[in-house]
Amino acid sequence: MTATAPHLRAADAALLRVEDLVVEFRAAGRRRVHAVSGVSFDVLPGETLGIVGESGCGKSTTARAVMRVTRPASGSVRFRGAELTRLSERGLRRIRTSMQMIFQDPVSSLNPRRRVRDIVAEPLVVWGRGDAAAREAKVREALAAVGLDYDVVGDRYPHQFSGGQCQRISIARALVLEPELLVCDEPVSALDVSVQAQILNLLEDLKERYGLTLVFISHDLAVVKNVCDRVAVMYLGKVVEVAPADALYRASAHPYTRALLSSIPDPDPDPGPDAAARDAEYGPRGESPSPLDPPSGCRYRTRCPLAQDKCAREVPEPRQLDDGHTVACHFPITTS
Ligand SMILES: Nc1ncnc2c1ncn2[C@@H]1O[C@H](COP(=O)(O)OP(=O)(O)OP(=O)(O)O)[C@@H](O)[C@H]1O
Ligand code: SF4
Ligand SMILES: [Mg+2]
Repeated sequence: MTATAPHLRAADAALLRVEDLVVEFRAAGRRRVHAVSGVSFDVLPGETLGIVGESGCGKSTTARAVMRVTRPASGSVRFRGAELTRLSERGLRRIRTSMQMIFQDPVSSLNPRRRVRDIVAEPLVVWGRGDAAAREAKVREALAAVGLDYDVVGDRYPHQFSGGQCQRISIARALVLEPELLVCDEPVSALDVSVQAQILNLLEDLKERYGLTLVFISHDLAVVKNVCDRVAVMYLGKVVEVAPADALYRASAHPYTRALLSSIPDPDPDPGPDAAARDAEYGPRGESPSPLDPPSGCRYRTRCPLAQDKCAREVPEPRQLDDGHTVACHFPITTS
């Protein structure tokens, strides 16, 4: 536990620990895009962490900085205790195979000119793993794990498959290197609702089978609810609330989380007097501010119905409410 991120657990218990991550981009006129501004979270082995928030809040940038596709301006990313931001290219190469990522648009993430067997084998070739026969065995196994038959699909090209099947192929490609951590960036957002459930079930099965640890990014709390142990809610480059999934849905304390929850249809036929309507009252007003010029103090204050003077003056530091539940708000909601 740290003062700035009380939701972090013991450093040696975490597979991935991200602390105070800052990522900025240069915009026109030497202005800075404050895409990720001091984000902290951790993931224990075998856990699934959800990262949710509306478009542009910094989810993908956070994921790319964790994978070292994007270089952070500052902060720490530890994987199995190794500080990735300070590792040499060589050290990083060794660890990179243990961390894989899958993306929102499976069709465009697959090379259209290559056959499925070569697409899935590519990471093995790049990392010099095994001979041709060993690689084929691995590709067969990975395709079978995602429900595809090598003899049927191996010779085909991506355009011959549906979006759901393409996502299965990208998952197979991520699995061949036997990663420990799978970062899934909106893996089902581009798919039909019926196919979404199949891919989510597949990820759950693979997690069990291979002992994977997942970071699951989505703008949709309803999706995250069913697959995550813990959830971190992001708003304009900051984590505003972290909680075990059930606590977040039962008793979220940040107005922004409440607003996100109000957009999920409630499966409970009698959720109480207009629970969704009540949560909607905490909802964002107006447009999201630009990350070029985030509001002072609390970044949600320009849209928050509970905002007071203090919210403009002071950045709300995360504080612990219950075990594993932290919120960054000066006036957290305490009614459930
Ligand atoms: N390479 C870049 N150069 C400049 N700005 C960038 C770059 N990449 C991202 N941004 C900006 O950083 C902010 C965060 O973007 P990011 O893609 O991480 O959001 P996101 O939460 O993944 O959104 P979405 O749900 O739409 O995928 C946005 O304002 C985006 O425009
Ligand atoms: S700190 Fe203030 S503005 Fe920010 S979410 Fe809490 S009440 Fe709203
Ligand atoms: Mg994104």
